[in-house]
Amino acid sequence: MNEDEIRRLLQKSEFPRSNRYDPAWLLDGNMGPNPLWLLEWLTEALMIEPGMRVLDLGCGKALTSVFLAREFDARVFAVDWWTDVDDNWRRIRDAGESSRVVPIHVEAHALPFAEDFFDAVISIDAYQYFGTDELYLHYLTRFVRPSGRIGLVMPGLARPFSDGELPRHLSQPQSNGKVFWEDECASFHTAEWWKRLCGQCNRIAVDVADMLPEGWRHWRDSEIALERSGKGLFPSDAEALDADSGRYIGFVRVVATRNEARGYNLYDPALVASVEREQR
Ligand SMILES: C[S@@+](CC[C@H](N)C(=O)[O-])C[C@H]1O[C@@H](n2cnc3c(N)ncnc32)[C@H](O)[C@@H]1O
Repeated sequence: MNEDEIRRLLQKSEFPRSNRYDPAWLLDGNMGPNPLWLLEWLTEALMIEPGMRVLDLGCGKALTSVFLAREFDARVFAVDWWTDVDDNWRRIRDAGESSRVVPIHVEAHALPFAEDFFDAVISIDAYQYFGTDELYLHYLTRFVRPSGRIGLVMPGLARPFSDGELPRHLSQPQSNGKVFWEDECASFHTAEWWKRLCGQCNRIAVDVADMLPEGWRHWRDSEIALERSGKGLFPSDAEALDADSGRYIGFVRVVATRNEARGYNLYDPALVASVEREQR
């Protein structure tokens, strides 16, 4: 592996905080495009203050959780479903963040937290796996205190496909055989789409819904760095991202603020009993 080349690809003037992290640590913990860049962009719109209780929802290998603790002195609950909680705890301890980051293995519809517990919820490259359900945000807001914030970054679209047709550069195999557009990309949407979806929840106000400038380029550089290091989990998507050059593919950010409205936990198996209790 050419370490200088990889370092160059991972150094970005837009992301000064992320630049301080060891490329090998980043690449070892990868589960997708460099999550520190996406989180650093998110925190430009969602300020994290020292001591805040933050839920990192779909934290993967907890790189973003370590970043939140180290950069902002946040107390972080690192929740994930596909990763091993023992591995995450080891990574958190090795990063020296065992007093500020708590790893938890749980599915996003079964969050084991009290109502109004968090000052902020953030989710990087994960919300698209469960958050397109119209009812999910309603559930999630339950765990955020009034005036608390929710910040999401996910892969998305700069514009809808013309005539609804998937363009060839995304649907055809790249020279390495990998097709960019897999079935799970069906949850890629525009910032407008996410704004409309989130705006249906009366327990929040959407403050920001936009796209990361040059997001496709950052994603591509991340793919090339992973490929060069031999640590990518999947064959590279760099060629398709280059061909796209941001016409369609990039990253969407949504930031919202919780208001005082209350609601039920729609995924609570004891929902009926709790409603009956309240009515008594
Ligand atoms: C592409 S990975 C990104 C991980 C990490 N945020 C990052 O950017 O490196 C998507 C993550 O979403 C999590 N995820 C997907 N569906 C989930 C669910 N239903 N509940 C909790 N986590 C989920 C997975 O466990 C996975 O770690």
